[in-house]
Amino acid sequence: MHMIGLYIHIPFCRQKCFYCDFFSTKYDDISLVDKYIDSLIKHSQKFKNKKINSIYIGGGTPSILSFKQIQKLLLSLSNTFNLSKVKEFTFELNPESALKEKLIILKEFGVNRLSIGLQSVEDKYLKYLGRMHDLKTFCTCYDNVKHEGFNNVNIDLIYGLPNQTVDDWEIVLKKTLLFNSEHLSLYPLSVEENTTFYKNGIVLDDKLQREMYEKNVEILEHSEYVHYEVSNWAKKNKEALHNTNYWRNLEYVGLGAGACGYLGGNRYKNIENIEKYINFIENNVDCTIENEYMDEKLYTTETIMLGLRLLHEGLSIKCFSSTQNKFALAECLRERILIQEEGRVKLAKEYVFIFNQIVTRFM
Ligand SMILES: C[S@@+](CC[C@H](N)C(=O)[O-])C[C@H]1O[C@@H](n2cnc3c(N)ncnc32)[C@H](O)[C@@H]1O
Ligand code: SF4
Repeated sequence: MHMIGLYIHIPFCRQKCFYCDFFSTKYDDISLVDKYIDSLIKHSQKFKNKKINSIYIGGGTPSILSFKQIQKLLLSLSNTFNLSKVKEFTFELNPESALKEKLIILKEFGVNRLSIGLQSVEDKYLKYLGRMHDLKTFCTCYDNVKHEGFNNVNIDLIYGLPNQTVDDWEIVLKKTLLFNSEHLSLYPLSVEENTTFYKNGIVLDDKLQREMYEKNVEILEHSEYVHYEVSNWAKKNKEALHNTNYWRNLEYVGLGAGACGYLGGNRYKNIENIEKYINFIENNVDCTIENEYMDEKLYTTETIMLGLRLLHEGLSIKCFSSTQNKFALAECLRERILIQEEGRVKLAKEYVFIFNQIVTRFM
């Protein structure tokens, strides 16, 4: 049975974190958010009765929505899509807005995975990153999440901040491990254009970030967590299914301003402007601004670039079908950058941190 993922983008945040260039705007007009939810619901009708196997509501800050807005959105999803085969339903939480009543309604509507942006356990770093929460707020949120019975929780952390030493980071990671979450996403800080950090000319230390990455591998190697993707570790059977399907280059519907989707061989992006998105949907105008139809070459390149992210699964050797890919593969196998095992190709451990450089060989 052909099933697909569903991604819904909630582009509102209390304020912009200093490092973040994800598409979101300040949540200060509740009527705009109400209209946005109505537009999401109307947009979803285009895909009515589609069989979905994973849902991810991300942002932005989905937990910023009010109880009523969450209820309205989730109720409409269950009335629009065929959700009988949904295995994983993730909702992103920011600690300061994850109120108990919202967790209860999420559970009621079948959300079975939460992803919480902790970023750091030290208040000084949280402040430095421009976060709205402190450690105490996170602890309350985490207690509530566990109290409501969520048993598949991801925690996001960012490492490699300026002036952070490897020892400082080790303390952050080890304190985070005490929460015993089922999944961990560990990201090296990147400085993106249009962020406060960029404007402030923040400079990163690549060598130090690499050492911190190696510390992650060292600490987590002897733990219950498996390093299954470049930046992701999970306990047994707790790998993120929705994201894994992205890395397997499978299809998904993208709803909302700035959301991407991939359907029928077309990779698309919706307009990154909330008012225009609402307007387009209201007037039945196509809200996509980018459409890229995959020809065989592009499809193969993307399949390789995404599949190599899956450190254990890798991808079938059959995916390296063109002469150019076969040549690059042979070269990488010779240099032991890639490893071939039972018809599958995987990235060697030593090259995970420089993943982005390696995949250019297949572009
Ligand atoms: C799409 S963001 C939104 C998550 C959620 N709104 C939050 O703030 O917790 C997902 C994750 O990407 C990571 N991230 C975003 N920008 C980053 C950057 N410039 N460098 C490193 N990690 C970043 C953060 O860990 C963040 O939690
Ligand atoms: S990191 Fe999360 S809360 Fe902060 S600006 Fe980005 S999406 Fe919003």
